[in-house]
Amino acid sequence: MTHLRSVVLGCGSYLPARILSNDELAKSVETTDEWIVQRTGIRERHIAAAGELTSDLALHAARAALVNAHVEASSIDLIVLATSTPDQTFPATAVSVQAGLGITHGAAFDLQAVCSGFVYALSVVDALLKSGGFKRALVIGAETFSRILDWNDRTTCVLFGDGAGALVLEVQPQPGTTADRGILTAHLRSDGRFKSKLYVDGGPSSTQTVGHLRMEGRDVFKHAIAMITDVIDDAFKATGTSAADIDWFVPHQANKRIIDGSAHKLGIAPDKVVITVDRHGNTSAASIPLALADAVADRRIKRGNLILLEAMGGGFTWGSALLRW
Ligand code: UT7
Repeated sequence: MTHLRSVVLGCGSYLPARILSNDELAKSVETTDEWIVQRTGIRERHIAAAGELTSDLALHAARAALVNAHVEASSIDLIVLATSTPDQTFPATAVSVQAGLGITHGAAFDLQAVCSGFVYALSVVDALLKSGGFKRALVIGAETFSRILDWNDRTTCVLFGDGAGALVLEVQPQPGTTADRGILTAHLRSDGRFKSKLYVDGGPSSTQTVGHLRMEGRDVFKHAIAMITDVIDDAFKATGTSAADIDWFVPHQANKRIIDGSAHKLGIAPDKVVITVDRHGNTSAASIPLALADAVADRRIKRGNLILLEAMGGGFTWGSALLRW
């Protein structure tokens, strides 16, 4: 029996040119390269130029993904863009990307689940493609967190960066086994009791301002590994797979200690873990597609590989996805 799967045709990414090192940050807030590296694994991050918007980053990543997939923009009928830093409150940043690509058919919308945004977007796109309403989609994670950071708060401003990544997905019939190409399973979770642990202190309805990111980092850290490994266990149970079957673990890049702790608890070998947090910082919804594009570009990820994705962040929201490249 055939089974519809959302198959990855290609991926791409974009990072703003400006690199901000830990040493440079230490000139403006009370911090050190040593503290940041030891607590987070971050060495540098990219920062968008003045006037460079989330949609600009997203458009670069989308174009790179289309080239990598060898498909024309006109063949895309769905764009879902995960971001917490849209160009404007509305319209959706996704429609700017749609217009930038010259697409006038299909649908484009934003999805907001903070750092879990890309896994959420992937899951929503998978469902929409399999519903038969759409054939070929761009799933984008794009952020300019530099715009919502309090640059005087050393507990948060050292952690985040800007960037974008994108995947092209197409619905295809597959045999219906775990050897299929495409998204095999996705699992989404949230628990709003934790909404004040990581939030932005502004918004259209509350303050009529954009606000700044606030985080009780220690509390986020405390819950992260258990939530991540729990939702990955759901993915393993749903597919009858285990850590031993994974070719590449591509986690959300928030903190190297969380990534290492999760991989260790799951029994995934360190050499199967894709790490970009050292060079990108935490780019929220963009971190997973940025890491995927990195590992595809240097030929670590190859067709047929089993890839495990996970993310956890504000809300709290968290999720996992298992796909065969
Ligand atoms: O994308 C998902 C969302 N985010 C996360 O996943 C982040 C989760 N949390 C974390 O990654 C970690 O909690 C942090 C990296 C944010 C902080 O690491 P920590 O080991 O939990 O440190 P802490 O918050 O317990 O702070 C330890 C000390 C404090 O000083 P005292 O109270 O011990 O004197 C902080 O004030 O480090 C101090 N501190 C800093 N020192 C130098 C906090 N930020 C800095 C800094 N530089 N940038």
